[in-house]
Amino acid sequence: MATTATLRLDQKEYTLPVFVGSEGEKAVDVRHLRNDSGCITYDEGYGNTGSCQSAVTFIDGEAGILRYRGYPIEQLAEYSSFIETAYLIMNGELPTPVQRKRFSQLLTENAPIHSSMEHLFEGFPADAPPMAILSAMLNSLGCYYPHLATNDHQRDLENFEETAAIIISKVRTIAAYSYRASRGLPYIYPRRDLPYCENFLHMMFSTPYEPYIPLPEVAQALNLFLLLHADHEQNCSTSTVRMVASSGANLFASAAAGVCALWGPLHGGANMAVLEMLKSIHAEGDDGTKFIEQAKLGKADKRLMGFGHRVYKHYDPRATIIKTSFYSALASLGIKDDPLLNIAMRLEEAALKDDYFLARKLYPNVDFYSGLIMRAIGIPENMFTVMFAIGRMPGWIANWREVASNQKGRIYRPRQIYTGALKRDYVPPHQRK
Ligand code: CMC
Repeated sequence: MATTATLRLDQKEYTLPVFVGSEGEKAVDVRHLRNDSGCITYDEGYGNTGSCQSAVTFIDGEAGILRYRGYPIEQLAEYSSFIETAYLIMNGELPTPVQRKRFSQLLTENAPIHSSMEHLFEGFPADAPPMAILSAMLNSLGCYYPHLATNDHQRDLENFEETAAIIISKVRTIAAYSYRASRGLPYIYPRRDLPYCENFLHMMFSTPYEPYIPLPEVAQALNLFLLLHADHEQNCSTSTVRMVASSGANLFASAAAGVCALWGPLHGGANMAVLEMLKSIHAEGDDGTKFIEQAKLGKADKRLMGFGHRVYKHYDPRATIIKTSFYSALASLGIKDDPLLNIAMRLEEAALKDDYFLARKLYPNVDFYSGLIMRAIGIPENMFTVMFAIGRMPGWIANWREVASNQKGRIYRPRQIYTGALKRDYVPPHQRK
């Protein structure tokens, strides 16, 4: 493989270094191009831009491969748990039994939130979207732990283990409290004896007079859902976390920004949008045929939600895993003949035979089935994207750590091509037409 590339511009040649990642991915290094030539590279949407070097997650979108820290997603889904995988993603290695125990202890100790923080929930309108509450609360955690949120990366990194455990643990408490506040229900405190997912379901659904005890299949399905979402390299929210971190911001603030980026329907909000789409197809008495035809017109508001991906040009491997586990969860929950599931299956079957979707390499992504799985295990619809955020937290934390640890790191600051008005003089108000 050549170690340089040559670019010719206006009869002048520029030599650009080429480097290769550990899985053979090649990149032309354009960092000095503007200084040397006056020209920048243009890549709206960053589809062809490597914004960083990262050792967390590897994706080969053409081959449908996803690995966290080198481990195939299929193996982690089969043998690991969300918490063990979170440790792996954040620290680079699977935990030893001693490390795993210590991490669990830290999560247990950090599950409750400061009692004065409970009052913050009351300040939101009852119908406030849980994603807005989650982002606000994660950011405000920094006010309760100012020594962990100094905006001095060196100092914040010294306390990384504690800060990461606080976020991974409290995000589920905050999520459950935001749901209970929205329903006017009393808060249910975390329990020390419950594992991560069971504790979350307890805080969501127990009452002061009756504990909620989930079926093991429900807790397992939730565990798998979180694990499959735990990281996904430089997606919109993770890039946002890195962008915010690059200014020197602390981990709480960076993770809160990640939640905002995840919220939109083209990213994490797609799991809610898929369910809304299936419900509206059902309400209109369509079996999916009419909707597919509309989706092919290319209008942004009629996309087949849960289909397509910037990186995967093949089946999203997470979709394959979640679909299989979905059927076993449905069987154990005794759910048969769900009309929305039937529509989803028909849509998938039709799209996979259709030239429009085939030509554009549009396959089901993880969100096509994740909303249905959340619904089957009883998670309210407006919490779907919050569940994605809980799952993605280890990935955001690991990416923040990479940025914060990079001694040579620079602030993320892209350039632009200006297309606005040329220089003109200020017009006083009375002369404006
Ligand atoms: N339905 C119909 N047409 C589509 C769809 C879709 N879901 N997705 C892309 N297209 C078309 C698009 O109109 C364009 O057609 P043309 O070449 O004729 O202009 C072509 O496919 C390429 O689309 P694009 O918008 O350039 O692709 P992108 O890489 O910018 O967008 C995406 C990726 C995921 C935002 C997009 O596929 C989409 O909007 N999908 C639906 C939303 C969704 O499911 N998002 C969840 C992604 S997975 C979870 C996560 O990691 O965030």
